[in-house]
Amino acid sequence: MEKIINSLKIYLYGDSEKQAIIFVHGFPYDHTMWMNQINELQRDYFCVTYDIRGLGQSYVGDGQYTMEAYVDDLYSIIDELKLVKPVLCGLSMGGYITFRTLESARVKFGGAILCDTKSDADTDKEKLIRASKINQINVEGLDKFVESFVPNCFADLTIKNKPELFNDVLNKSKQHNPIGVKGALFAMLSRTSTKKFLKKIDFPTLILVGKYDKLTPPKTMRKIAESILHSEFKIVPNAGHMTPIENPEFVTKSIKDFLSIISKPKL
Ligand code: MLT
Repeated sequence: MEKIINSLKIYLYGDSEKQAIIFVHGFPYDHTMWMNQINELQRDYFCVTYDIRGLGQSYVGDGQYTMEAYVDDLYSIIDELKLVKPVLCGLSMGGYITFRTLESARVKFGGAILCDTKSDADTDKEKLIRASKINQINVEGLDKFVESFVPNCFADLTIKNKPELFNDVLNKSKQHNPIGVKGALFAMLSRTSTKKFLKKIDFPTLILVGKYDKLTPPKTMRKIAESILHSEFKIVPNAGHMTPIENPEFVTKSIKDFLSIISKPKL
């Protein structure tokens, strides 16, 4: 089922009486990155996903976004759907949104799944790179930016052995409105660090990272896992930064196992 909440396109799968999982996608992608997992999990869970403001089918507006606006968007979904103790599952930029949402703690959460992400804010060097990407989109156009950014998100072996997966993501990323993509870059470069919050996480957390992730490598994510009390850390074989797409079987099974421990599926 599809729904519009707060000008965002929301996609709902499964029975709304069951434990809710909210899937938050990465940049510059859309909700479809989670479809392999949702197809499998919707039998036992209420799976909620959406296109982040400015991307996919959601509202673009003026592109003046902040991480806090993304967090407000996520809470508007939780409020409107009246979700009780949802589990949040975010990848990369979706992980930044997840961490900050958990930190702001306006409702209780049942658990968290963090894939290929980090808790640090951008360094000055990273901010300057983001600024140059915004400029690249202005001067050379979105396609050139996407062609330079997306290959780094995949393991070399995925691009070589499964080019159809890579090309699908590449082509979809070129369909976004450039204003939304620049807005996301600005929101990421101006986000706060959630590093100090990690020690305060008191609910079960699963940390997944692709073995060949070049953007948020296993050593970065292992440190995150070590800072969280009840965390489980897994390296996803045969995958780069796009774990749910590059190794869907491993990611789905890991999420399934994690969820079955933290919440018994309602029959
Ligand atoms: C993502 O996959 O969401 C991005 O790589 C995040 C980032 O650029 O920091």
